[in-house]
This record gives sequence, structure tokens and C-alpha cells, in this order.
Amino acid sequence: MSGWIVGLRRRLHAIPELGYEEHKTSQLIRETLTELGIPWQGPIAETGVVATLSGGRGPCVALRADIDALPIEEQADVPFRSQHPGRMHACGHDCHTAMLLGAARLLKQRESELKGTVKLIFQPAEEGLAGAERMCHAGVLRDPPVERIFGMHVWPATPTGQMAGRAGTFLAATGFMHIVVEGVGGHAAMPHLTVDPVCTAAKIVVELQTIISREVDPLQSGVVSVTSFHGGETTNVIPGEVRLSGTMRSQTLEGLLFLQRRIREFVEGIAAVHRCRARVEFPGTNFPATVNTPALWDLAREIGSELLGAESVQESPPVMGGEDFAFYTQQVPGCFIGLGIRNEELGSTWGLHHPRFLVDEAALPLGTALHAEFALRSLRELATER
Ligand code: NI
Repeated sequence: MSGWIVGLRRRLHAIPELGYEEHKTSQLIRETLTELGIPWQGPIAETGVVATLSGGRGPCVALRADIDALPIEEQADVPFRSQHPGRMHACGHDCHTAMLLGAARLLKQRESELKGTVKLIFQPAEEGLAGAERMCHAGVLRDPPVERIFGMHVWPATPTGQMAGRAGTFLAATGFMHIVVEGVGGHAAMPHLTVDPVCTAAKIVVELQTIISREVDPLQSGVVSVTSFHGGETTNVIPGEVRLSGTMRSQTLEGLLFLQRRIREFVEGIAAVHRCRARVEFPGTNFPATVNTPALWDLAREIGSELLGAESVQESPPVMGGEDFAFYTQQVPGCFIGLGIRNEELGSTWGLHHPRFLVDEAALPLGTALHAEFALRSLRELATER
């Protein structure tokens, strides 16, 4: 099945689409499920699809893939590179989608053996837009009620053939920020007749790091990253405003809310002292931390040991990346793992969200097998408990 999975991944890789705009992607998913004879519902939350496999009455478990891409111009030298300018599957969600379609095909072959129902959730808009939350609101965890959910992410830090994860908090609580610093523009040669938002914004960028270095317990983790800085057009004009944006991370939602409160106070205070005005927004919904249910990490580790070998399952420290998978695990027990794709020979060593991000596709059938076994084993366990 490897060639089929890789083929799908390459087709998806060529048509990257941003959150809630994944129309071609969604269509490819629906066509593939239809070809496999698997019933599906959709679109849910704009472009999401939920497929259902059932061997009759019994418990229900869910497997989830995210399907969206990033606003990045691809620099990876691959024959199936992005056909959409300024869009790239730089976070491997094309792989997640293809692996879950692989699991769909594998589980379809064994549908009569299923001790209940498997829902396959193809979710839009993971990248900052909380597609998981909308899927939850649309009821994908209900009717029949999902009792366990599993997800995975391609993991450049871990070699191909291995997986990583942990019990408890695995990924960080995540929020985003937009800041507008308003001054008064004018001639660059007469700064005293202006209120300069560029200098003020520069101080904000630097000072925000003080929240982490001076106000967060050194033994706890926090991140504030300013990732865009836009203002001005030319060499001799001080612009009227500067726009900043970025993200903040903590291992708990409370920690995240603390960072957001202090960011607002810092920005407004620094702006005021420099005679500017500032607006701070935290758009969308904060992602909670992704917390793995300990018993399900134990199960994932056991299955990983059987399929990949005991030495191929890594206990990972928590990671400050965020995942909207957290919205599912807020409601039902779940486990999220990292699937190794690192291969020095192939050059699949670039980080997630890098324009040269590359995947060792040998990992894809392993992800499919893990997905399928997570579901099969969970249904057996839950059916036995009844
Ligand atoms: Ni991702």
C-alpha cells in the first residue's frame, strides 16, 4: 500500500490550501473515500470530512488528520512541488491526510472484524484557526460518542522508523497576537514633529522578552515570538503606524493567559511613554495544551514497540509547538504522537514551517499502520471492558 499512500501524499502536496479554503484537498479526500466504498459526511466546518467504518454495535474511537497548508513559498526541490504560488505543505499535513486515507483503506479491508466504529476525522484549519474546535462544535465527537481519539504529526527531530511522545502535557498552550502601534507620521529629517511608531515598536519587540526572562519561573516554560514587523514604505518618511504580530506559548492555559495579560500591559505602557497609542488583539481562540491520557500513551508505546521495535519508541520532553488536537483531548481521552521522518541522507532534516521542509516518505506506511492498530486495539479493549 506504500506506493498508493505516497502517491496520494504527492497529489496533496502539489495543491496546498490555507485553512478553511481546502476545497481541492477536501474533494480529493472525498473522492478517495468514495472509491474505497467508505461512507463520509461533509463538508463540515467548511472543508472538513468525517468517514465512518463500522463492524456493528460497540464502542467508537476516532483518528484525526489535519489537512491545511501554510502561506510559504516552497523552496524544496521535489518533482511534486507546490502548484499554488505562496502556499506550501511545510508542516506535513499532506502526509497526515495521506496516512489517514491509508488507514481508511486498511481498516476497510477488516471492517467486519471491527468491534465497533472508527471515525476518521479530516480536519481543516489547524494552523492558527482552531479548525478542531469547529469540528467539535459541529458534533464530530458525538453520535456515536467517541471514547478515544488518536492523532500524529510528522516529527523532523526523530529518525524515520521511530516515534516519540509522552504521558501528560506533550504540546504547549498556544495563542496569537496582533499589535498596532499608532504614532504621527512625517518627514524623517524632522522627527521632533512626528510621533515615531518605528522606534516604539522596536522597543516593544525587545522588551516583550523581559516577560519571559524576568517574570516567568525559570523552571517553567514560556515563549513570546514577534514574527512580523510592518511599517513604512521609503527612506525619508516616518510612517504613521507599525503592525506587529506573533505568538505566545506556555505549558498551561493559565500560563498563557498570564503572558497575554502582561503582553497587553507592556505594549500599552511602552507605547504611552513614547506618546504612541497601541492596540493589542489576541485573535481567534487560544489552543489549550495537548495533554496525552497516560493509559493511552502506554498503549501507543506498546503498539509502537510491536510495530517499530522497542528501541524505536522515544519518551519525549514536552514541546512548545501547539496543536489544536488539544480541543479533542479536552473532551475525550486521547493521545498525540510524533512520527519520525528525519533522514540525513535524504536531507529531511529541516524544521516544520521551513520553506525547504522535506519528508522521508518511508515513514508514511508506518504512520498508517500505527493509526490502524491504535483503532483496532482500542476497540478491542473498550469492547472487552463492557
Ligand atoms: Ni502541523
